[in-house]
Amino acid sequence: MADEVLSQFTQAKQEVQKTVTRNLRIGIIGTGWIAESHIQSYLKQPDVEIVAAADLIPGKARAFLEKWAPALADSVRYYPDHHALLEAEPDLDAVSVCTYNRTHAVCTIDALNHGVSVLLEKPMCVTTDEAVAICRAEKQSGKVLSIGFQPRFDENMKMIKRIVESGALGEVYYIQTGGGRRRGIPNSTFIEQSTAGIGALGDIGCYSLDMVLNAVGYPKPLTVSGYISDFFGKNPKYNNPADAARFNVDDFAAAFVRLEGGIILDFRIAWAMHADSPGDTILFGKEGALRIPATDCWNGSVGGAMTLYHDVAGERTETTIPILKNNPAKGGLFDQKIRSFLDAVLAGAVAPVPSSQILYNQAIIDGILQSAQAGREIEISIPEI
Ligand SMILES: NC(=O)c1ccc[n+]([C@@H]2O[C@H](COP(=O)([O-])OP(=O)(O)OC[C@H]3O[C@@H](n4cnc5c(N)ncnc54)[C@H](O)[C@@H]3O)[C@@H](O)[C@H]2O)c1
Repeated sequence: MADEVLSQFTQAKQEVQKTVTRNLRIGIIGTGWIAESHIQSYLKQPDVEIVAAADLIPGKARAFLEKWAPALADSVRYYPDHHALLEAEPDLDAVSVCTYNRTHAVCTIDALNHGVSVLLEKPMCVTTDEAVAICRAEKQSGKVLSIGFQPRFDENMKMIKRIVESGALGEVYYIQTGGGRRRGIPNSTFIEQSTAGIGALGDIGCYSLDMVLNAVGYPKPLTVSGYISDFFGKNPKYNNPADAARFNVDDFAAAFVRLEGGIILDFRIAWAMHADSPGDTILFGKEGALRIPATDCWNGSVGGAMTLYHDVAGERTETTIPILKNNPAKGGLFDQKIRSFLDAVLAGAVAPVPSSQILYNQAIIDGILQSAQAGREIEISIPEI
């Protein structure tokens, strides 16, 4: 995943009312690929001490520290899994959960139950039941749980939300969103039920959903008619034969979702297809429409200048919303994700990307899988937290 979003690393500067005045003691759970971005961002923060790391693969956590923070390799304590780390480290302030999707819930719930705040990588987890259990553990713990959607910090993403909130679109009633790549199936732990649990739908679908749902205030999903397929991932013609043989998640998903407030969400996402894009994101409102160009490889931002369609003094008008540059003084998007989480932990404040929102994101993903399995539209039911 070549992703310029992940390579924007400068230190964020924010003023925070601190309730914790010493350095924050941080543990890293899962020391694979995305943990590299976490540790690099943590190392730039002046008030962080990385004290522990865990990975299921023997020796992996130490090798990770030796590569990314050699000066800390002898002081960090290493554990064979998340539970051993949490049991042995009573003074932790927070952990980054950087494991594959299947263990997101168990690691997060265990950390919260130990009174530790959590920055949880996306997608939140695999099922709605897991998401509900995570939210309940968070509520019980009183700790901070933020979900790792760094595109939230992109100025263009913020602009989409600002446009909706400005009223320029009027009441939004229809959204088309999604994204994907002509060929871009990942490998490693992303393509098996036992580790990923969900494919393109969880990996990049959660981002597309977050882009539009956050813009319209995360309305509750009510029903979904979903479809998934795996025609590329399983086919050695389009995927490396060894990966095709073990591939057992979705590589394409589509859905028609009814949201509270009468909004229709028309969604598709692809790791692979015989086209360059499943289409732009479009929001239709009663007073205007917004077109957000697709990217050729979903990378957490928008694919070009957006267009606002509206009537001005009775004339049909198109206004171009140019691409906004992210201010380097605020830090890269990943750094902002880490810093905003730390600031929330320090202040005991609301998480920058709260689980109460991403619960709905997860319920749509799970709903698509359930509906695809049932072969019909289903109701999405989310219990009280
Ligand atoms: N925010 C982003 O831009 C972004 C980018 C890539 C991946 N991700 C997400 O990050 C997560 C991890 O992706 P990755 O590419 O780093 O995967 P990976 O397979 O490279 O690393 C995951 C690691 O977690 C370890 N692990 C699993 N369960 C564990 C447990 N209970 N205790 C300790 N270690 C455990 C595994 O042994 C593995 O080394 C995925 O959920 C993925 O969706 C986010």
